[in-house]
Amino acid sequence: MRSKIVAGNWKMNKTLSESKDLVKEIKKSIKGIKLENTRVIIAPTYVNLQKVSKSTKKSAIEVAAQNMHQADSGAFTGEISAEMLKSVGVGIVILGHSERREYFGETDALLAQKVDQALKNKLEIIFCFGEVLDDRKNENHFKVVESQIKNALFHLDASDWKYLVLAYEPVWAIGTGETASPEQAQEMHAFIRNLVASKYNSAIADNVSILYGGSVKPANAKEIFSKEDVDGGLIGGAALNADDFSALIEAI
Ligand code: PGA
Repeated sequence: MRSKIVAGNWKMNKTLSESKDLVKEIKKSIKGIKLENTRVIIAPTYVNLQKVSKSTKKSAIEVAAQNMHQADSGAFTGEISAEMLKSVGVGIVILGHSERREYFGETDALLAQKVDQALKNKLEIIFCFGEVLDDRKNENHFKVVESQIKNALFHLDASDWKYLVLAYEPVWAIGTGETASPEQAQEMHAFIRNLVASKYNSAIADNVSILYGGSVKPANAKEIFSKEDVDGGLIGGAALNADDFSALIEAI
């Protein structure tokens, strides 16, 4: 059975002491919640990964990195390798976030390399993709999502898919306060699951968790998460506040 997941992407927010405080608050506020088949993941900035992964060790909270370089090591100033992430206790990496694609020029081809590198190091991947507003307006959204998934993931072996979590994040909904409707999310998630089933098989498609991301808040989470093919959320803004974040976990 695929897991439900609530993952918080902290982006470039929270200093070390703020991160420690937020972890403490999240731990406290999720204490009473029964996490049946539900995973809670947080992705702080690189420099705070080690401290946060240490402080969450005995809790249900898992820690992810927001990005990673595709090479083993070498002269890549400012970059972080898969091995480095593992060495500080991180077992999950977010790849393909629309902000990485838009502001840092990450292409499907580059992301395919990053995916391979993460798998080589046995890191679990939360792989993000999604259309921009023009694609949606022009009814190109299925085509765009299909090509993003095909280009970065369809060279993988069936056995690699146990390391993958998919995150559909329509770019027009990220940080804008506008969400896809629960029906739009379900429609796309079902499309993605069918795509995976037709390339691989239905067992792989049934087992992969598909998260929705884009302005998920306590007020709209329940409805979105109740959809059959929506297995949770990748959360930006609302993950920076322990009450909101735990409300999302409760919603699932
Ligand atoms: P948001 O961000 O929840 O602030 O829209 C989502 C994301 O970027 O993953």
